[in-house]
Amino acid sequence: MDRIELFRTKTLRGEFVPPPDKSISHRAVMLSSLSKGTGIVRNFLRAKDTESTMNAFRSLGIDIEDRGDTLIIHGKGLHGLSEPADVIDCGNSGTTIRLISGVLSGNPFFSVLTGDSSLRTRPMARVIKPLSLMGAEIWARADNRYPPLAIRGGRLKPVSYTMPVASAQVKSAILLAGLYSEGKTSVAEPAGSRDHTERMLPAFGADLRVDGTTVTVRGGHELSAMEIEVPGDFSSAAFFLVASLIIPGAEVTAKNVGINPTRTGLLDVLRKMGAAVEISNEHEVSGEPVADICLRSGGGLKAVQIGGEMIPRLIDEFPILCIAAAASEGTTMIRGAEELRVKESDRIKAMATELGKMGVEVREHPDGLDIRGTESIKGAEVYSHGDHRIAMAMAIAALTAEGKTTITGASAVDISFPGFFDIIKRMSS
Ligand code: S3P
Repeated sequence: MDRIELFRTKTLRGEFVPPPDKSISHRAVMLSSLSKGTGIVRNFLRAKDTESTMNAFRSLGIDIEDRGDTLIIHGKGLHGLSEPADVIDCGNSGTTIRLISGVLSGNPFFSVLTGDSSLRTRPMARVIKPLSLMGAEIWARADNRYPPLAIRGGRLKPVSYTMPVASAQVKSAILLAGLYSEGKTSVAEPAGSRDHTERMLPAFGADLRVDGTTVTVRGGHELSAMEIEVPGDFSSAAFFLVASLIIPGAEVTAKNVGINPTRTGLLDVLRKMGAAVEISNEHEVSGEPVADICLRSGGGLKAVQIGGEMIPRLIDEFPILCIAAAASEGTTMIRGAEELRVKESDRIKAMATELGKMGVEVREHPDGLDIRGTESIKGAEVYSHGDHRIAMAMAIAALTAEGKTTITGASAVDISFPGFFDIIKRMSS
């Protein structure tokens, strides 16, 4: 299934439940492993990235009972992890390697973290620097920049750290290390990134305060196990939400989707582009806002300009936002998004290249793109760049394109959304 052929669809209609949230699934395994007692994670995402986190904690001595989409995790407390006997493979997952670096910094043993060829090119100095300031000893390839990482943790001291870039992974790594230090660890970011760690930690009993974009945790307390239900992943739902706007006659309802405002910048942008977004059945699941989201085609989308504090709120939605832009009237300009160059692929370059193959006029900038909307996207042979979100964005473009589109490297979707192509099949027939 690494190569998939897709054609223009006549329509896309129906309801679907997106896979469980990836960010929340990672955190649920991590905090449960570090708690005292038996934790239950319901609706856990079964995908390659979150399985990397599960396997990592197993190799640190945690017993995780696998009951499919429910995990029973026998937590051992903050100081119950044991030295891994081998290198920990974090696969493709930046969240796994960066957050675990924070945990291992507080543990008095030696460990080595690595990952696949994409992960081994992703910047790690952003976590190594603050964790070293706290007292961890960390070494990495290429002058302490890239994985593999070798960590010798130990007693940590609290810090007040200002992050140069907004990143939930870096913020979370520092907060997790902060659990191990005596005193208050504070982390400030230039703009608000996703706040799942801040929501979840107090529920496990951590002493944590949020003041604007500064988060402070007081270390030295044990966490206690709890039951968590993971909501649907907005970032996965996003592909079909955009599809419903650009496929004639389409109407799609995503059920049980997380609508945490640090994640739903795409909805604000789509509204600005002219979409009517219907949100219903709003409720809370394990401290996260959840709802059903319905979108339908009609009216046409208009180009917009995007930058500033909006970027962290739609960071993972950039590839699919580019597809909405390509189907809009006018030229959409995205700036201030240089972080996209260091995701699972260089997403700015990947989207410029692949949309170009489909006949869309795109201009690449160091920190974003200009995308000129067109009424005639053309089928082509496109490549995922080994990146799950590029594969899914190009698949949605293919559903609107003239002729056949072949996506190579399509199996990358299994990183976050196994079953993605089945939902396309069901809703387009
Ligand atoms: C994530 C944070 C974001 C996001 C990634 C998941 C997380 O990365 O792009 O897909 O779960 O904390 P950064 O923290 O690097 O912005």
